[in-house]
Amino acid sequence: MKKFLKGILAATMVCTMTAALAGCGSDEKDKLVMATNAAFPPYEFYEGDTIVGIDAEIAAAIAEKLGMDFAIEDMEFDAIIPAVTSGKASMGMAGMTVTAERLENVDFSDTYATGVQVIIVKEGSSIQTVDDLLADGASHVVGVQTGTTGDIFTTGDIEEAGLGTVERFNKGADAVLALTQGKVDCVVIDNEPAKQFVSANEGLTILDTEYAVEDYAICFAKDSELTEKVNGALQELIADGTVQAIIDKYISAE
Ligand code: ARG
Repeated sequence: MKKFLKGILAATMVCTMTAALAGCGSDEKDKLVMATNAAFPPYEFYEGDTIVGIDAEIAAAIAEKLGMDFAIEDMEFDAIIPAVTSGKASMGMAGMTVTAERLENVDFSDTYATGVQVIIVKEGSSIQTVDDLLADGASHVVGVQTGTTGDIFTTGDIEEAGLGTVERFNKGADAVLALTQGKVDCVVIDNEPAKQFVSANEGLTILDTEYAVEDYAICFAKDSELTEKVNGALQELIADGTVQAIIDKYISAE
């Protein structure tokens, strides 16, 4: 028994010593774990079994710069902030908009992209502008992805204002499917995924008027020491053109 314990102790010590030098088991490098919702092209989506996209590539470049291992955890969008605040993930990166409400629970990096909430309708819809949604006496069914700013804004502006109802879906693509099936009258979602969903479905169009313009950033647990490190790496990747090159790879310039 004693011998056995000693053996464990020795193994642990070797492991600890080695860890300091070259690594031991899976703790060899700190790991940057990015929580995301990989149903949001071109920022994060599946290509086969792999999650790719603008956020995935920027985050991988940040991890490389910081000499950290990198992993992506895919989850529902509204699970990302809880994963970050509970320490299950090091950061959340998901085309996530900086909002005052979210800032009460997390810190954000500098912004690395702009998002626009747009409205997708069926071609020929009676909804032609944002104002049609917000007009006195309006009564529409609006599809959104749960927990997104599209959800938050329309819940306030439309549902709580008595101008219609909001149908919440786990994925933006499911909201768009409901639109093609006539179950919702429009979908409020970020412009880049909107473009992809519209080009993948016949008979849909994006209204010219914008619902809201927002900043995307990476979120962290409050007062995390990672915020400054990641932000520094992000700044370098913005300055040397890496971030723009990644964006250009996924979004063709208009
Ligand atoms: N920009 C919106 C927000 O922050 C939507 C983001 C959705 N992202 C995703 N990966 N599903 O609420």
